[in-house]
Amino acid sequence: MSGHLLTLGELGTRGISELLALTDRFVEVGQRPIPRVPALRGRTVATLFFEDSTRTRLAFETAAKRLSADVITFAAGSSSLSKGESLRDTFETVQAMGIDAAVVRHHSAGVPAQIARWADDGVSILNGGDGWHAHPTQGLQDAYTLWRHFCPVPDGPPASEPLDAPSLSGRRIGIVGDIVHSRVARSDIEAYTALGASVTLIAPPTLLPACGREWIDGWLEPDAAKRVEITDSFDDVLGELDVVGLLRCQRERMVNGLIGSVPEYVARYGLTAQRAQRLHPDAVITHPGPMNRGIEIAGAVFEDLADARVLVTQQVSHGIATRMAVLFRLIGSGAALPGDGLA
Ligand code: CP
Repeated sequence: MSGHLLTLGELGTRGISELLALTDRFVEVGQRPIPRVPALRGRTVATLFFEDSTRTRLAFETAAKRLSADVITFAAGSSSLSKGESLRDTFETVQAMGIDAAVVRHHSAGVPAQIARWADDGVSILNGGDGWHAHPTQGLQDAYTLWRHFCPVPDGPPASEPLDAPSLSGRRIGIVGDIVHSRVARSDIEAYTALGASVTLIAPPTLLPACGREWIDGWLEPDAAKRVEITDSFDDVLGELDVVGLLRCQRERMVNGLIGSVPEYVARYGLTAQRAQRLHPDAVITHPGPMNRGIEIAGAVFEDLADARVLVTQQVSHGIATRMAVLFRLIGSGAALPGDGLA
């Protein structure tokens, strides 16, 4: 890996697979009575969140602590930004406190990349979600969750070597809803196609990038792009999906008129009780959170399918282990195998 994690595209299939295989080791650490290892003792991780977050910030902070790193938490709302301090001065102030990594979330695309240009050598910048652009660790946790749902780790003592290569080959994954505003969709598409899945984007044309198919062909490598299709009809593809990946309706990012009304959206794209009955019996449901119950998914469907078919809790808990893998690779013992640093 390079010194930063800004998008999954820069990792490629090999880098994504390596991190997911490494995640197995950190899931095992999380199951220990004391889920803590000394791999990042003496290192400091800062979380710089300029936009609200529950899952990403807590998962990164938990991951860093489980690796024995020190954590500095920056909250924009209570910072000197309110006195007019610039983004650069804010970052350089935190950096001057002696950090090894900073996790950056910002409502504008490109801010983590800009901060990476300001960072000193040896300080890693991790994108914790920037605007509509990318949310790479969400993509990793979602891909890991699906891989390990379809290919569970066998029972028995922890293996010292990876058990199997991460793969979603042969799986058809639907991503439903507000794709145009979704950094999660972009990173999930990169992760899923890198692992060989077919991805079906399901959305009204107003919630897709305006150039539609050209967006996919201009962005992804040809091998990945050919595994992505687009439809505006959830009902046409519902029964053929192995995974229904619901996206949050990002009403705070929408301008008027992108959807006619919430009831109209639910009628065409909500996972209602009627649609839930038409799912493939083995199909599972993901959602990055936070969830709008009653819009993306009916509350009763969420409750009825919870645990066995709705993987939301697994996504959150795997988010810690995947972020441990990323931090370990970026600021841990370099190319050393995890067994060298986990004892
Ligand atoms: N999925 C996600 O990014 O959630 P948060 O906004 O709570 O971090």
